Amino acid sequence: MAKYDYDVLVIGAGPGGYVAAIRAAQLGLKTACAESRETLGGTCLNVGCIPSKAMLHASEFFDAAANGAMAEMGIDVKPKLNLDQMHAQRLDAVKGLTGGIEFLFKKNKVDWKKGHATFQDAHTVKVGDETVTAKDIIIATGSSVTPLPNVEIDNDGGVVVDSTGALELKAVPKTMVVIGGGVIGLEMGSVWNRLGADVTVVEFLDQLLPGMDGDVRKEAAKIFKKQGMTLKMKTKVTGVEVKGKKAVLTLEPADGGESETMEADCVLVSIGRKPNTEGLGLENIGLETNKRGQIETDHDFRTSVDGVWAIGDCVPGPMLAHKAEDEGIACAENIAGQTGIVNHDIIPGVVYTLPEFAGVGLTQEEAIEKMDGDKSKVKVGKFPMMANSRAKTNHEPDGFVKVISEAESDRVLGVWCINNVAGTMIAQAAQAMEFGATSEDIAYTCHAHPTHSEALKEAAMAVQGKAIHV
Ligand code: FAD
Ligand code: NAI
Repeated sequence: MAKYDYDVLVIGAGPGGYVAAIRAAQLGLKTACAESRETLGGTCLNVGCIPSKAMLHASEFFDAAANGAMAEMGIDVKPKLNLDQMHAQRLDAVKGLTGGIEFLFKKNKVDWKKGHATFQDAHTVKVGDETVTAKDIIIATGSSVTPLPNVEIDNDGGVVVDSTGALELKAVPKTMVVIGGGVIGLEMGSVWNRLGADVTVVEFLDQLLPGMDGDVRKEAAKIFKKQGMTLKMKTKVTGVEVKGKKAVLTLEPADGGESETMEADCVLVSIGRKPNTEGLGLENIGLETNKRGQIETDHDFRTSVDGVWAIGDCVPGPMLAHKAEDEGIACAENIAGQTGIVNHDIIPGVVYTLPEFAGVGLTQEEAIEKMDGDKSKVKVGKFPMMANSRAKTNHEPDGFVKVISEAESDRVLGVWCINNVAGTMIAQAAQAMEFGATSEDIAYTCHAHPTHSEALKEAAMAVQGKAIHV
């Protein structure tokens, strides 16, 4: 009789966990996956990437009809919002995709253990009432919303909500305050701004989108202001009180000073996410978390406890679905004795607003810092979308593409894009960088005309000082 019930048990069926489970099973390992949610797919499919993109996509159509973009193309329409239908198509997308994972589990013979998992020892986990043993266990428990001290989230109430509540609002709020000008704040803020809410973003720092290239962050502020959002930078929220159907916020300058109050029909708290590492029984296996509650691993995703591995949002690094997925594949391959690797230097990041903001590799600031502050060791080429024939034809003038390369070798260190297809365009940049491309390699690759991607080619040409269309 086998010593363990399973070769591999994965805890959590988000993009990290479900992908790890499927790959482990594909590699011939007997695999189970514990998930406490009613449906598979984790944050991403249930309340994250997928439903937010469903709302972003639908609200884009409404905005185009309501705000003159369609009229500019010769299509006169007067849109009427059917929010119930917009939510229904969101739920339909979620249902289809989460059901798809269940189908893939069955197809690959991955057993879904329904319930909350807690470690008993390094090879034994209690899932609900069942005890499951496995030779190797992957922790893929993901993350949840970081709360704002003294601010209570009530998604059902719809006045003070987190991202999950912001996906489900039953009516368009007249006024909405978004606390945190990061990815969630700008994506969900964009949805409700497009549908008619008066949106104010309150951000602690002096720029939006921390972690992105400085030029991109500056441009983001201009673009979101142009789209009608009010930005209150260098400001922190110190309290939110619900009075009837309104919220009263207390704001303070980030560096201290006089506080002010403001009212809103809806407040979205989006100040980051924290790893789900509590209530998992880590103390039973002697596995400690770092200061941020994350589980540290080595390059192969091994934790300090033999046979226990960890991936995705609960380990250090960007909290992104594709990063979790790639780690899931690599971790399963390592467990199967293969060599699974993730290049953490080349993880693209995308904000799915309109235009989209995307980047991969180093920012210009990071590249200069890497060269000990010597600006001459970094070359930058920038190309405005206004000069790209396709973007111009489509009436999409906002944004640019920026290529950053090391002056001596010309090797591309980072690429940053703002345009309507930046999220798709960045894959090309990531692939080029993965292959060690120089900016000259990109500049001399034939790009189809007329496409937005020609802007990437021209930005690479600009690194050499010879773009054609500017
Ligand atoms: P998760 O997806 O969080 O999954 C973990 C799963 O583990 C959960 O289902 C949870 O129920 C389960 N679990 C936890 N503890 C236990 C336990 N003890 N027992 C059993 N089950 C447990 N990323 C992108 O790349 N692109 C996007 O467009 C994007 N949009 C987002 C939009 C929003 C609104 C949010 C909130 C996030 C978004 N993200 C996006 C981030 C993305 O969702 C996460 O990076 C990704 O889901 C992380 O995957 P994961 O597998 O590590 O964890
Ligand atoms: P975030 O880290 O992107 O942004 C949080 C913002 O809140 C920061 O700009 C921060 O300076 C600000 N902030 C922190 N405390 C504050 C305070 N008290 N007052 C005002 N501002 C404050 O976090 P966010 O947007 O909550 O997203 C969480 C994670 O989810 C991100 O790490 C992101 O990777 C992931 N995500 C990814 C998406 C994508 O890939 N398109 C979409 C949505 C989420």
